[in-house]
Amino acid sequence: MQPRVIVAANRLPVRRVGDSWERSPGGLVSALTPILQQNNGVWIGWNGVADEDWEPFHHGGIDHLPIALSAQDVEDYYLGFSNETVWPLFHDALRTPDYHRHWWRAYRDVNRRFAEAIVAEASASDLIWIHDYQLLLVPGMVRDLAPHLNIRFFLHIPFPPVELFARLPWRSEVIDGIAGADVIGFQTPRGMRNFLAAATAFSDATPSENGLLKAGRLVHVVSSPISIDTAEFARIASSDETAERVRMIRKDLGDPQVILLGADRLDYTKGIDVRFRAFEAMLEEHPEIAERTKFVQIGVPSRSTIRDYVEMKEEIEQIAGRINSTQGSRHYVPIHYMYESLSIEELVAYYRAADVMVVTPFADGMNLVSKEFIASRVDDDGVLLLSEFAGAAQELTEAVLVNPFHIDGMAQKMMAAIEMEPEERRRRMKSMRQIVSDHDVHRWAKSALASDVGSTAQ
Ligand code: G6P
Repeated sequence: MQPRVIVAANRLPVRRVGDSWERSPGGLVSALTPILQQNNGVWIGWNGVADEDWEPFHHGGIDHLPIALSAQDVEDYYLGFSNETVWPLFHDALRTPDYHRHWWRAYRDVNRRFAEAIVAEASASDLIWIHDYQLLLVPGMVRDLAPHLNIRFFLHIPFPPVELFARLPWRSEVIDGIAGADVIGFQTPRGMRNFLAAATAFSDATPSENGLLKAGRLVHVVSSPISIDTAEFARIASSDETAERVRMIRKDLGDPQVILLGADRLDYTKGIDVRFRAFEAMLEEHPEIAERTKFVQIGVPSRSTIRDYVEMKEEIEQIAGRINSTQGSRHYVPIHYMYESLSIEELVAYYRAADVMVVTPFADGMNLVSKEFIASRVDDDGVLLLSEFAGAAQELTEAVLVNPFHIDGMAQKMMAAIEMEPEERRRRMKSMRQIVSDHDVHRWAKSALASDVGSTAQ
């Protein structure tokens, strides 16, 4: 029999809608739901609302154990240490991380609450699966409280080069935290190698064949790229409703010959500003394609009280406004920018309406949007322009790969993507569709939870 799985993540997989709960969208949730349902699994996480203490509840075949966060916890643990220290530091210090002792203390306290909740719930036959950068200390804390438990950890974001990680005042505590797990998963071999270098530099761990030897324990370290629910995207993309929506979207945009699309959580790691600048450079270089070429950008609101996010939002609005006034005319608005969160059905319709999907992060653990776009192109058409710095670039090598720090280079590749011959588009898309269909999120979760941990450290 499969072991019971206990997941711990910053957020619960449901949102409150009126008196009931609605499953949150996202690959992780759809992959883990059937696994947790099979064996009375448990999900431990925050409900996303400050100062609200929920009782444990059962929903959709899964036990939910809410961790309450006060407004101060949200300020210091979530917005502060998680998103203004770890997030920027782990994304190559694209914004200057702030190091505050009171944020660190709050982070440690909240991580301890997660660890205690896990230990109160778990028994020796269970499999504990801890997720992402908000809970870096939890594996070690659980190990200290209950050394016999089977603990796995997966980091969804990049692990930075050791030179950057070295700046973190609490670097040894963070390594000890992560290395409390039996198996540690990273999105890419690069993240895995960076972690191994940091672990040997800042803890008593020594390299071993499959990862690390730490305090007499073997810690497996693996690279295991996450994916999406490929079949679900293909199903939505094939529906008549989607076909109708695609027609409407193109019509509402004035039936342009070419639609370039960006769809991102509004985050400074995503390179939305530079893709606009590249688009502008392309229009300047090729005025003949203006009028019939539109850029649609969907920006999903995120962490909108953090200063770096506020500034970035203002900056991209300004750039879009400038380009629309300098490159546009009475009949032509080059950039169509939407600041909203779309349903999965609406998003898929945009994926299908697009000719070129533009994904240009400066740093990104994986980037699931690029995989969603591929999965939605059941017509085998469309071009993916993808940053080399997205984890997804390791697998989607038939994308048009770009360096987001090189505006003119991106402009040229954008033009090449627009002009790509239909046969070439089809060949590349088919090959990427095969990859995303072979490696979906269900396969990822199964291999991450297998007793034999699969690929090992290299
Ligand atoms: C990234 C992180 C996730 C996080 C998500 C949304 O994908 O890896 O852990 O949940 O962003 O961010 P939020 O701060 O709204 O949870």
